[in-house]
Parts: sequence; structure tokens; C-alpha cells
Amino acid sequence: MAYLIGIDIGTSATKTDLYLESGEVVATASSSYPLYQPHNGWAEQIPEDWWKATIETIAAVIAQSGVNPKEIKGLGLSGQMHGLVMLDEDDNVIRPAIIWADQRTEEQVDWLESKIGRTEIIEMTANPPVTGFTLAKLLWVKQYEPELFDKCRMVLLPKDYIRFRLSGVFATEVSDASGTQLLDVGRRNWSNEMLELTELDHDLLPPVYESIEITSEISSTAATLTGLKEGTPIVGGAGDNAAAAIGTGVIEAGKAFTTIGTSGVVFAHTDSIKIDPEGRIHTMCAAVPNAWHVMGVTQAAGLSLSWFRDNFCQDLLHLAKKENKNPYAYMDEIAMTVEAGSDRLIYLPYLMGERTPWLDPNARGVFFGLSARHNKGHLIRAIMEGVSFSQLDTVNIMRELDLSLSDMRATGGGASPFWRQMLADVYGVPVHKLAANTGGTLGVALLAAVATGSYKDLKEACSEAVVPVASSKPKKAVHDRYQQIYPLYHQLYLSLKEDFISLSEL
Ligand code: XUL
Repeated sequence: MAYLIGIDIGTSATKTDLYLESGEVVATASSSYPLYQPHNGWAEQIPEDWWKATIETIAAVIAQSGVNPKEIKGLGLSGQMHGLVMLDEDDNVIRPAIIWADQRTEEQVDWLESKIGRTEIIEMTANPPVTGFTLAKLLWVKQYEPELFDKCRMVLLPKDYIRFRLSGVFATEVSDASGTQLLDVGRRNWSNEMLELTELDHDLLPPVYESIEITSEISSTAATLTGLKEGTPIVGGAGDNAAAAIGTGVIEAGKAFTTIGTSGVVFAHTDSIKIDPEGRIHTMCAAVPNAWHVMGVTQAAGLSLSWFRDNFCQDLLHLAKKENKNPYAYMDEIAMTVEAGSDRLIYLPYLMGERTPWLDPNARGVFFGLSARHNKGHLIRAIMEGVSFSQLDTVNIMRELDLSLSDMRATGGGASPFWRQMLADVYGVPVHKLAANTGGTLGVALLAAVATGSYKDLKEACSEAVVPVASSKPKKAVHDRYQQIYPLYHQLYLSLKEDFISLSEL
């Protein structure tokens, strides 16, 4: 038998899945870690936590399955994008990683726009300067922690740091590198122009591979720590969204997926590079060679619901623990008791600023229309609807750009049947469920499967391993109700834009 491993260095946890070549999950393990928010709008994690979780979960899937490590043909890495990991000359981590959700870099983004120009940056990197992207974070460290910046010899993304710990090799791949703002996304290599204009040394960056290429192999140290066989190949892998695209079979034009993890994404595959001239959605390299994707990001999607769960649902957490059930299942049940539209309660999911469609680090969460009639069910439903409307913002931009979204799939921890139906009702198109809801890890395991010869290409791998099993079809009356509410949802940000700035200055 041949097996493959997919690892996802997520924001709330690292998840490792062991698969058969056919895409069937054999064992799964996850290990969580904290997110630090030392100031309002900052978000940091400790790379050593990711590494410990990686060792623990690889060892766990090997132990659970009883599989002989010699039969594990390859491993793929996926992970949260944009995070800044800085290493010194001895390859030690210099400071906590500043992760994708961090919004401290407004000043650096303004500097990039005034020094280089927004249009020029879109031309060079396919995206406007974004506070959450890696470059702005590196410039922040250069400005505010120059002694740490001077020590830096290598800049890695989260999953590429784990690759380094597993293999001793520095490498990245095109999909994740697209989110650094230093990649020439059209040419699929570092942009010398951007490096020159920002006065950054090319040697700070690792070599860039295609996602499907083998970059390195498991070192003897990592083999001892994890139980894997020394020499097991590690494929380039992909940023979490490009990985989920492979894992949901979104590898050709017309196919798209929605995911609700900590962040929420709507992602569409494109065969040629497509750029939104207004820079409202991101354009990046796909994990599929010679293909690209566009995607819009809701900063706090699942995060909105987990924030509410942790702060206001102690009763449900308690019950879930007692009954050994998932607290989100109870939250779904309570939300279902409320009608679509949450009785005129609207939630703006801007707990961590926002990316699509408003690049705005100062935006903050809002419950609009709160009345004494509303109860916990209304608040929970309004959160899910607000996140869904935010994803509709992305869908609408894609429709405006004439992208076909004829086949929309759902993945991610938040894709419960209830939320999936809500997405179908909000978008007005069917949303398909897949046999395995393991998107990202399956995607990079399939990249490893192709790289090590189990399949001739990704098309063959996806048609074997990715199986749509059910669809949530939009209900007309509910869709109509959401269509009435959405314009007000969309307008609320514009009404509050200036107030968000005043709030940040208080
Ligand atoms: C994508 C993004 C998030 C992170 C975290 O641009 O920032 O989806 O990758 O999952």
C-alpha cells in the first residue's frame, strides 16, 4: 500500500492527515496553540509551537494507523499564508511570527503607495499593498525593531519554516510566495524590481519552486522526532487556500470554492492571470502549474463565531463538554430557531480589520439594529449571515470580472450543513459538499501523490480522490430575503468608514 501525508499549519491548530493514494483518510490528528494579540489589531504566534504540533501530529497519525513509515511515499505542507518568520545566521527564530491577521502595518502600506505607487505595485506583484502581506511586516520590523532586522538572514512563511525544520532546506513555492508582495505573480518568481525598490536583499528569500515539485526530504533528525522515514520526499505544497483548491478539485476555470476557517475565502481558478484593476481581490499563482487564482478574504469568518462562542457561550461550552459534542453543533441549532435575516439584526465581521472588499485595517466589528427582542440565537445567526454577506461581496466582484462560478464547492471547519445552506441562499447558487472535508491536507497530499508518481497529473488525481456527494440548493424565498438585506449590509461599512478612523484615534 502507498500512503501520503498532508500537513496544514493553521491559525488555531496544526492538522495532519494520513491518506491512501486514493484520497481516503486513514488517520487524522490535530494539535492547537495560542494566538497572541499584544495590541488591538496585532496577531502573533510562536513558530516553535507549530513545530511541536507538527511532530506531535505526525507521530500520532503513524501510531494510530499502524502504517509502516516506509510505505509513506511523500509529504505535502500547507499553511496559513503571509506570516513573517525571521531567522538569524544560526537559523534561530528572531521574534514571534507576525501572522496574516495582523494589521499593524498601515504606515508601511502608505509608504509603499507613496514611494512606489499603488498601480505600479499591482503591475509588479498583481496585488495592491496589503497590511496583512509579508512585505509590509518586514518593513515594520525594519522601522521599529532595526536591531532584529539587522540580524535577519532568512525570511520564511509558516509552512516553509516547518519544511526547514523537517528537512534543513530553505524553500518556498509559488502559491504561498504570491502572498508576500515580493513575487512577480505573472512570471512565478521573485520580483527583482520590488526587492530593489524596497531595498531588500534577495538572499533573505528562499528559492521558489512550483507547488508540485519536490523541494527536499525528511532529515535524520526529523525522522527520529516524528517516526517518518529519513529521505521521505517533501513536495512544494501550497498556501492553505491554493491547497484547498486541489483538495476540492478546483483546478479548472468555472470551478470555485468557499471556505470558512479562521478567515473565510472565496476562491476561483483561472487559466490565465486575471487582475482586479481596483485591487479589491487578490490574484495569486495556483498550485496547478501555469494557472492562477483570484480570491477574496474575510479576515474574521470562523473567528467571529469562535470569538462569540468563547466569550458569550459558556453554557454551550459546558454542555458540549458534558455531552462530548461539538459546541458549534449547538450554535447551529440555536441559530436555526431564528428566521433568515435575524429579525433585522446585521453583523459586520470586521473584528480584525477587513480585506475584501474594503482593504481597511481600522474597520471593526458591529452589531447593527440590536433590539431588546433579540436573544443569543439572533446574535449567532446574524454573525453567520454577516460572514456570508462578506463572502457575497467577493462573489459579486468575481461576477463583475466575468469569472464563471458555475460550480461552487464548500470546505473548511465552518462548512456545517446549516452554514452551507446559508451560503447557497445568500449566493443564489448551489453549494456542493465533498466526500472528505479535509481540503488543504488532501490538496497537498495529492500534490505529493503526483510528484511521486501515483498519478500522471493533478487532473487524474482530483478525479480519483475528490468526490462531490451532495448539494445545498438555494431556497428562493430565503434568497429573496437576503437580497433585500444585503444592500444595507454593504452600505453600513461606507456609512461607518470615517467613524472607524475616529475610533482608532481615540
Ligand atoms: C489568505 C489569508 C488567510 C490565511 C489564513 O490571503 O490571509 O486565508 O491564509 O488561513
